Amino acid sequence: MSDHGTPGSIDGHKTVGVIGCGYWGPNLLRNFNQLPISTVKYCSDLSDERLEHMKALYPGILVTKRFEDLIEDPEVDAIAVATPVSTHYPIAKACLEGGTHVLVEKPLTGKISEAEDLVAIAERNGLVLFTGHTFVYTAAVQKMKDLLDAGELGEAFYMSSTRVNLGLFQEDINVIWDLAPHDISICNYLFGGQPVTVSTYAKSYIRPGIEDVAFLVLQYPQNVVAHVHVSWLDPCKIRRTTLVGSKKMLVYDDTNPLEKIRVYDKGVDVQPHYDTFGEFHLSYRFGDIVVPKIHSGEPLKEECGHFIECINDNACEPRSGGRDGLAVVKVVERACESAKLGGAPLPLERSSEGSE
Ligand SMILES: NC(=O)c1ccc[n+]([C@@H]2O[C@H](COP(=O)([O-])OP(=O)(O)OC[C@H]3O[C@@H](n4cnc5c(N)ncnc54)[C@H](O)[C@@H]3O)[C@@H](O)[C@H]2O)c1
Repeated sequence: MSDHGTPGSIDGHKTVGVIGCGYWGPNLLRNFNQLPISTVKYCSDLSDERLEHMKALYPGILVTKRFEDLIEDPEVDAIAVATPVSTHYPIAKACLEGGTHVLVEKPLTGKISEAEDLVAIAERNGLVLFTGHTFVYTAAVQKMKDLLDAGELGEAFYMSSTRVNLGLFQEDINVIWDLAPHDISICNYLFGGQPVTVSTYAKSYIRPGIEDVAFLVLQYPQNVVAHVHVSWLDPCKIRRTTLVGSKKMLVYDDTNPLEKIRVYDKGVDVQPHYDTFGEFHLSYRFGDIVVPKIHSGEPLKEECGHFIECINDNACEPRSGGRDGLAVVKVVERACESAKLGGAPLPLERSSEGSE
């Protein structure tokens, strides 16, 4: 079953179940199985074909179409959910009510109210609710965070992110729910909180009513702004983020295997002394371009290991916990509302939900 030795003999070892074995679930399964601290006992999918495939890959694994079997098995300590977004809430709720820690793929749920409910149940039951914001576990995003926090880039001005390709069109969600959670989770992580307002311009070219291209503008406190362009309708695969600070600028290209991050010592300085407005001038700085060394470990392994670490240590604060998942769902839901209103900026927090 496991790719490693005797699981029971390892302190803090956890037995894991995986629900949903389509495209992404098998990656979770492989990583939990390869970690010395966890072993996957059970997996669930509605498709016989997928279950047969998982059984062929892992002959010792138990498979079932009833996800409840994983929750009812007293040996299963934790469950990872990688099913379509509309099913995240009922499945994660059943896991938490059954006393199991749960990792839910991004986005945590398809509605703010559902995410709030999951956070409340997890907190009430003392269980770990974890969100699969995989990008915050990448070495590149961690490097960006370290540079920003160390003041290397100066004061953060703005971030601009492009995540586009041809497809893959999803059946149950629009492109904002599908792709923007990656960028929003990166922004929230880098800027240490959620935006104040969100504004979105989006279009549905291929299927009526299901947006396939969107431009989001997130206004964070301290005058920081982020622009996120997501699309299923683009000729090129682009995964590129630019982060501009008062001292330096940085470009993160996730498709570049060798130079994921480039830090540009470029900037604009306002000359402090001038006598008349006509003499006001700027000086441009063109310094070195540095490519920091980034380790090439699998982010999902880091994420799965951190999930188990948080289960084992109450004091461990998840880098992508339930509240981080909720914060991203808030942005996405408001972004979709803004798109329906033609791009109107909407506050993330409403003073009173009942008053609208
Ligand atoms: N973190 C990442 O980078 C990343 C990448 C891809 C997908 N995802 C997320 O993973 C989730 C799944 O995406 P996917 O691309 O693997 O989708 P998918 O459609 O390929 O797979 C989903 C699987 O869930 C199964 N399923 C549906 N309802 C079920 C139920 N009630 N019980 C058991 N199995 C059930 C389906 O049969 C299917 O095999 C989504 O939330 C997606 O956003 C995350």
